[in-house]
Amino acid sequence: MDLLIKNGIVVNAEGRCAADVAVSDGKIIKVGQNILPGAMTEEVDASGLLVLPGAVDVHTHFELSFGDIFHTADDFYSGTRAAACGGVTTVIDFVTPENNESLIAAFNKRNYFAESKVCIDYGLHMGFSEVNDKLLDEMQEIVNTGVPSFKVFTTYAFKLNDDELKRVFMNAKKLNALVMVHAEDHEALEAAKAEFIKDGKTDAWHHYLSRPEAVEAKAVKKVIELAMETGVKLYIVHLACAEGLAAVEQAQAEGYPIYAETCPQYLNFTSDVFKRPDGRNFVCSPPMKGIESRDALWDSVTGCDRGTISPTYFGINTVATDHCPFRSTDKDRGKDDFTMIPNGVMGVENLYPYMLSEANRGRISFERAVELCSSNPAVIFGCSPAKGLIAQGADADILIYDPGKEFTVSQKNMHSDIDYTIWEGTKFKGYPVRTYSRGLLVYKDGEFTGKAGHGRFIRRFM
Ligand code: URP
Ligand code: ZN
Ligand code: ZN
Repeated sequence: MDLLIKNGIVVNAEGRCAADVAVSDGKIIKVGQNILPGAMTEEVDASGLLVLPGAVDVHTHFELSFGDIFHTADDFYSGTRAAACGGVTTVIDFVTPENNESLIAAFNKRNYFAESKVCIDYGLHMGFSEVNDKLLDEMQEIVNTGVPSFKVFTTYAFKLNDDELKRVFMNAKKLNALVMVHAEDHEALEAAKAEFIKDGKTDAWHHYLSRPEAVEAKAVKKVIELAMETGVKLYIVHLACAEGLAAVEQAQAEGYPIYAETCPQYLNFTSDVFKRPDGRNFVCSPPMKGIESRDALWDSVTGCDRGTISPTYFGINTVATDHCPFRSTDKDRGKDDFTMIPNGVMGVENLYPYMLSEANRGRISFERAVELCSSNPAVIFGCSPAKGLIAQGADADILIYDPGKEFTVSQKNMHSDIDYTIWEGTKFKGYPVRTYSRGLLVYKDGEFTGKAGHGRFIRRFM
């Protein structure tokens, strides 16, 4: 036995108990009472602390470029370093094939960039920016490689039209793969953008007004209809509006395998942030919406709090980050024209501390926070039972959390390479004190203690 975490309260999605956790060779070998250490075992006293499965953030964008102009601040090293320091022990990032590139070539290239840098375990989703017979044929090989999730967009330059969406959905259904969708109505938002710019309405507030609630809801409803027609498993990424959520819940109630993710930025902020002088720093798509949407997202997060993995996966099923930070100098390029602001915000180090702090304040149970941030994403994306729970046989991806620690977020105490944070000044009740990735201590008391290349690619199967 390498490590014995003693006297803590172990919290899984299904419940909690006072127990010791024994680790050997990166795996949890026993969870139980009064476990005795071996001669070489390192003992960690977790009295008064919670012992949780590390979070599984299924939506990050490390090392992403938009054209040749904008590059995200975090590469696979600094991004997974920040993740580890926020209790995230698995990330799933994206492969975006370039023109005419085969899916497998794009996967190999991305994996090559990632593997020497990652500090925690990682998976990849395959992006689609065009559709043709060759790419559709390659989906099988990608699934066999351990990538059973495909991402499509209804907007941006790489959007797919309805016919293309349907072809991807049908093929994914055949392969029992999952399709993730960024849903915003392209025509509506482009028309609004053009109108605002023509009228000189160029501030960040008009970023929100160009893609308000209705723009997101329209696209969400469309992709749900397509999913119902094809029977594919659908996962709506970064859901941010009440009307879209209602459509998801309706489809779920009818028995369709439809999942919804939201992000901490949609739970904590409203569109009012775009009125701030630094509003451009909050620009992401979809934008944060009005208070009604934020309340609806929270109602779903709290309303489905049953302390167990919900059998129907009703409402919001996961909270992930869409971590995609651009430096403030890049954001500044859009200070006189919101259409020039690179889209995306940070969050990988804030996700779990935020949700656990809300649990610690009594808004949800700790079990529900674990379910949304760890066990549900692990199950939905095919990394369970190795990830997402503290149990014998699971990977020793463990967060030790001090519910008594007060923490105020500042760019200075974060571990990303981004030069600001939208979370500046936010106070958390409780904070991570240690993170283990397959038994390796990667974070301790505010310091990163991991190493590049420790993370392994996770082959996922559904
Ligand atoms: O604004 C965002 N969300 N940027 C990242 C890319 C995406 O749309 O997920
Ligand atoms: Zn997106
Ligand atoms: Zn994203």
